[in-house]
Amino acid sequence: MRKDKITDIILKTARAMQHSGKAEDGLASTDRVKWPITCIVGPGLEGAIACETKVGFVNGGEGSLIYQGYDIVDLCAFSSFEEVSYLLLHGQLPTRSQFKRFNNKLVECRFLPNTLRMMMSMRVEELHPMAALRFGENLMRQRRTWRDSESARPSPEDAIAADEDSIAMETRPRGEEHAIYEFKTHKQARPEDARKISDDATSMEACAYLISGMATLTAAIARIRANRMPIEPDPSLSHAANFLYMMTGKRPSPEEERIMDVALILHADHGMNASTFSSMVVASTLSDIYFSIGAGLAALNGPLHGGANEQVVHVLREIGGEENVVGWYERARKKNAKIPGFGHRVYKTYDPRAVILKPLLDFVAGNNEEVLPLIKTARMLEKLVVEDLGKEKKIFPNVDFYSGLIYSCLGIPEEMFTPIFAVSRVAGWTARVHEYLKNNRIFRPRAMYIGEFNKKYIPVRGRDSRKRRHRRSAVKSR
Ligand code: ACO
Repeated sequence: MRKDKITDIILKTARAMQHSGKAEDGLASTDRVKWPITCIVGPGLEGAIACETKVGFVNGGEGSLIYQGYDIVDLCAFSSFEEVSYLLLHGQLPTRSQFKRFNNKLVECRFLPNTLRMMMSMRVEELHPMAALRFGENLMRQRRTWRDSESARPSPEDAIAADEDSIAMETRPRGEEHAIYEFKTHKQARPEDARKISDDATSMEACAYLISGMATLTAAIARIRANRMPIEPDPSLSHAANFLYMMTGKRPSPEEERIMDVALILHADHGMNASTFSSMVVASTLSDIYFSIGAGLAALNGPLHGGANEQVVHVLREIGGEENVVGWYERARKKNAKIPGFGHRVYKTYDPRAVILKPLLDFVAGNNEEVLPLIKTARMLEKLVVEDLGKEKKIFPNVDFYSGLIYSCLGIPEEMFTPIFAVSRVAGWTARVHEYLKNNRIFRPRAMYIGEFNKKYIPVRGRDSRKRRHRRSAVKSR
């Protein structure tokens, strides 16, 4: 069966990347920490150690990645995204009955009809998919925790005299107790158990809800943007297969399902990257897990982070063919441009996720006429970048270099690549937030103040005349 072929490809790749499992980045980042700790810190907190974790370890020198003690290669070869999510959250692989319970919870949490209805009352298709996802995630929070219902916010649709495109606003309030226009408030009953759910920021239930919900929201956003109605989840499908089904409207082949599953496993966690750190910073204030994951989504959106895989495909299209790569690369280097899909803060060798995805791309591309020219262009670009910058600056392809092309082969629109990253990374975000809150300390680094002291405050009138005096004396001295 071709599905087994994928396991063979992964295992063959694994044999080529034999790891020692030891840290090789000189930071002793696998030792227990005795606080306070002395470490060398670069800008952007490079090298700073913020906490201890068992969730995962990125060995940048060796080019390996571990989740809760298991090598990513083994997890890709033998596990599933559902099992990996359980592993990240609970610290161990589930027994058969634990897995069944967890999986049932994920399947149950796929259904978000009320959240989708609320989301579709807004013009979601006009939002960037990541903005739409963040909006949808916030609606999940509201639906689940009912937090904001306590003050029973009025619906703008109930404003008197509101038409489709505007809401009435008071232009001349008279300072009276009653406004000219008033909202009809309609308090919804808050479910009995809502307080428990909303107060338990570390709830596993919330984690499962977010992991499942992120896939449902992302698929629905893709459908809405294509002027189609969201597709109801299918409880009989795996997380990966159901996600592809809800997004594309087609039941994926076993091979497509397996490739999607591997991609989800590979992106599930990756150390203290910007989005994970953002989630943890928000969680450390004891804000709830929905706000924390919202922060992760916001950070992931940037082109230096989750947005890179979309950029890679744009660049490959822009190059316009294998024969143009040399010229394009020379121009890019002259401008000192960063090539999307290359380089990494931690890996100073090949990113192991890229190593796994590279042969899988060839497998899934088959005879895909649209993607094959892009793959040829990518191969040529990789050769040039590695020859030029590999030895000197330790710049190699990262996971984003191949993931976008794989998603293209699976029929996923480019604008959905970054949301797909979130569909997977939400497992790592929730696991790390969950772990950090057990020994929480609010994050509070310092910045060096390099500004001035003791400046005299001048009222705005004086600032203009002072500026004129300065200008006059400058002209005189010429
Ligand atoms: N192309 C060309 N040169 C590069 C690249 C690149 N992609 N990345 C780094 N360099 C060079 C820099 O110009 C710099 O050279 P210099 O020392 O001569 O000034 C040197 O390598 C170090 O680069 P930094 O920007 O300091 O590395 P940093 O660790 O801060 O950045 C980052 C890492 C953001 C990933 C960077 O490599 C980059 O911008 N890559 C392109 C975007 C990308 O692919 N992002 C995805 C990252 S993986 C992920 O988020 C899943």
